[in-house]
Amino acid sequence: MEFSLAYAQQQDEQDTLRRFRDEFLFPKHEGKDVIYFCGNSLGLQPKRTRAYINAQLDNWEQYGVEGHFMSDTPWMYYQKTTKESLARLVGASPMEVVAMNQLTVNLHLMMLSFYRPTAERYQIIMEAAAFPSDQYALESQARFHGFDPEDAIVELHPREGEYTLRTEDILATIRKHKDSLALVMLGGVNYYTGQFFDLQKITEEAHRAGALCGFDLAHAMGNLPLKLHEWNVDFAMWCSYKYLNSSPGGISGIFVHERHSLNPETPRLAGWWGYQESTRFLMKKGYVPEPGAEGWQMSNVPVLTMAAHRAALDLFDEAGIENLRAKSIRLTNYFEYVIREINKKAGFEKFIIITPEKPEERGCQISIICKEGGRNIFDALMAAGIVGDWREPEVLRFAPVPLYNSFADVYRFGEVLKGLI
Ligand SMILES: Cc1ncc(COP(=O)(O)O)c(C=O)c1O
Repeated sequence: MEFSLAYAQQQDEQDTLRRFRDEFLFPKHEGKDVIYFCGNSLGLQPKRTRAYINAQLDNWEQYGVEGHFMSDTPWMYYQKTTKESLARLVGASPMEVVAMNQLTVNLHLMMLSFYRPTAERYQIIMEAAAFPSDQYALESQARFHGFDPEDAIVELHPREGEYTLRTEDILATIRKHKDSLALVMLGGVNYYTGQFFDLQKITEEAHRAGALCGFDLAHAMGNLPLKLHEWNVDFAMWCSYKYLNSSPGGISGIFVHERHSLNPETPRLAGWWGYQESTRFLMKKGYVPEPGAEGWQMSNVPVLTMAAHRAALDLFDEAGIENLRAKSIRLTNYFEYVIREINKKAGFEKFIIITPEKPEERGCQISIICKEGGRNIFDALMAAGIVGDWREPEVLRFAPVPLYNSFADVYRFGEVLKGLI
């Protein structure tokens, strides 16, 4: 690798996915596209999204209520248009997934089904300093069931002097709590450090302990290929506005393993849209769930946000998550290399990378601690048209996203960063 524009441009020329960059709309800075490394927070707008939404507005104009049956893709079944693409991304059968609601709402709905504490088995293992919404959700779930969160929630902390969790420590904690453990609930990729957990090993250990295991995939979905079915994960949920580029606050989704989702006895809260599809409109008393994840739906489909989702998922179908991952590893490795080159020039570790070094333990996010003046550096980058994000208390996060970022973006970022130290 080389920290030079010539090297970066050569990598871009060899990039078989480079045409996808042109599928996106970039915000402008002084008349030019910004360098956007914030897809871990909000993905960019695909150019085609507007047309997909407009098509549904046209259907609405033309058909009114009849659009439920008469539009090109009848709204009655609109959620089905995303299931195959979502299933490919998470490694599941289409029956095991559905797009619905928002992420934290889905987390609660999944907890209501899969956190069924008893007096003996009531503890939940989660990451310390997980994304706040997850902390609040789990804390309130523990209280909802009459437990003290201080006792019911077991937090995983990195070892002294380390930033990320060791798999062996996660597994040991599960074993230690095996008699009282009800659930393991982690992020698939930690939002702060970018660490990708070993979902398969964690799920196996949770099951050995007699507990269930679920993941918040907000930062994993569309970032890494997943195999939730094969890994035997019990449930998962994600958002679609980060790597999936499906609009701000866009629709969330869930995975429920078939051993639970095909079982009509699996407890859940019900609404009419999860009712068995063939007889839903007979409007009968007594809830009969549609088999599969669709049996967790409550409300009818928000077609406009689902249209934005459909537009973005088409790009993933065209690019292929395995191809994206291959580029992502190279691009993220280059990003890391550039930071290390800048540290060499500084003569000390000015930028401490806290994301794991091994590609199999991270997606495309690099989190950096800059002990002195981190916030000022972040502000100066933004002022120079480089968009990352800042997470209190001291982390700069950047996501070189394979769908729309280039090696030249990484090089240019490096040049600006070097100039700031
Ligand atoms: C890991 C994680 N969990 C939960 C959320 C909350 O998502 P929402 O506001 O869509 O419920 C986020 C949002 O960024 C997140 O990153």
